[in-house]
Amino acid sequence: METKSEKSKVSEDVFQDERELENFKKVVESFKSYHYCLTKSVANSLKNFHNLNQKHKEYLMDFEDNCKLLLECIDHNDDVIRLFIRDAELMFENSNALTNKLTEENSDQSNHSKNDVDRVCTTLKQIIRDWSIEGENERQMCYKPILDELINIYSEIKDLSQINVLVPGCGLGRLAFDIATKGFMCEGNEFSLHMLIASNFIINNCFMKNQYKIYPYVDSWSNNINFENQTREIHFPDVSPHDFSNQLSQFSMGAGDFLEVYNEEEKWECIVTCFFIDTAHNIIDYIERIWKLLKRDGYWINLGPLLYHFSKIPGEFSIELSYKQLKRVIERVGFKYLKEEFNVKSKYNSDDQSLLQYTYDSIFFVVQKN
Ligand SMILES: C[S@@+](CC[C@H](N)C(=O)[O-])C[C@H]1O[C@@H](n2cnc3c(N)ncnc32)[C@H](O)[C@@H]1O
Repeated sequence: METKSEKSKVSEDVFQDERELENFKKVVESFKSYHYCLTKSVANSLKNFHNLNQKHKEYLMDFEDNCKLLLECIDHNDDVIRLFIRDAELMFENSNALTNKLTEENSDQSNHSKNDVDRVCTTLKQIIRDWSIEGENERQMCYKPILDELINIYSEIKDLSQINVLVPGCGLGRLAFDIATKGFMCEGNEFSLHMLIASNFIINNCFMKNQYKIYPYVDSWSNNINFENQTREIHFPDVSPHDFSNQLSQFSMGAGDFLEVYNEEEKWECIVTCFFIDTAHNIIDYIERIWKLLKRDGYWINLGPLLYHFSKIPGEFSIELSYKQLKRVIERVGFKYLKEEFNVKSKYNSDDQSLLQYTYDSIFFVVQKN
C-alpha cells in the first residue's frame, strides 16, 4: 500500500486486496471504539469503588467527581478522534465508495480487543512526542542530533532540495517534517494506519498553532502523583504545518511496510532511522535494504536502542543481535563508520510527571555506503 503526493493523498487503489481494506476498516473501528472502551474502564473503576466498605469510601470523597471529570476528558478525546477518522475517509479520492464500504457493517464496539484500543491510546501519546510543546525535550534528545548531523553533512550543498532523505518508520512524521522544513526533499514511511491517520490529520488539516487539545493520559491509572496528572491537557500542533506550506511540497509520506514498499536501487542520498531498526523481524534485512536504496557515498544516520519488537512474542520470527554483532554486519555489508556515540540519553513517549521514568542509553551512528 503506497501513498505519495504533496498532501499525503491516498488513492483508493492503495487497497490492493481485500485484506488491506479489512485492515483499514479495523483501524477505523478501533478509533470508534475508543470512547466505549475507555468509558468502560472508568465504569469498572467506579464499580470497584462502590464495592469498598463505607469507611474506605469516606476516605475517598473525591473519587466519584474525579471519575466524572475523566469521562468528560474521554468525551472530548472522542470528538477529536472523530475528526481524525472523518479525514481518513476523505483521504481516499473516492471517499463515498469507501464510506459505503465502511458503513456496510454495523460496528459492534464491544468486539474490539484491548490491543486495538491501546494503539489508539498510544497514538494520542505519540502526539505529545511529535507535535506538542511538552514533547520538545524528547525531540531535542532524539531528533536534534540527527537534524544537526544532516545539516553538517550537507553544509556545502547550496540547494538542499537536491538531497533525497528517507525516514522509515517515521511514526507521526515530525522528524521527516522537520527535515523537509530545513530544505531537504524528505519522505517519511510508516506502516501503522493509526499513525498515518493521525499524521494525515495533523499535517494536512491543522491550520493554527495549538488548534486542538487532547487528554492523552486518561488511560494512565498507575504511577500518578496526583489525580490531575491523569486529566492533564496538551495542545497540538506546536507548529502550524500550514505556515510551512511552501516547504510541504518537499515532504511526502509513503505508506506500507518498508521492506515491501522501498526496493528501487540507489535512489536516496540519505536514510535516517530513529527508534526504528529494532522493529525488524530480521535486522539484517533492514541493513541490506538500506544499503541497496542508498546512492553511492550515501549516508545512513541512526539513533535509538535495540529493543527488539518481536523478541519473545510467541510464534514470531525474531533475530536479536547485540550492538557489537550488528556493527559487524553493518561493516560486512559495506558501510564505513563515520561517527559512533554511546549512552545518548533519549526517551520514547515518556511522561515526565509519572512516578515511572525510563531513559534509553541509545546508540547514535553515521555510516557511509562505501
Ligand atoms: C518505535 S516507533 C518510532 C517512531 C518514530 N521514528 C519516532 O522516533 O518517534 C517505530 C515505528 O516504526 C513503524 N514500523 C515498524 N515496522 C515498520 C515497517 N516494517 N515499515 C514501516 N514502518 C514500520 C511503527 O509503526 C512505528 O510507528
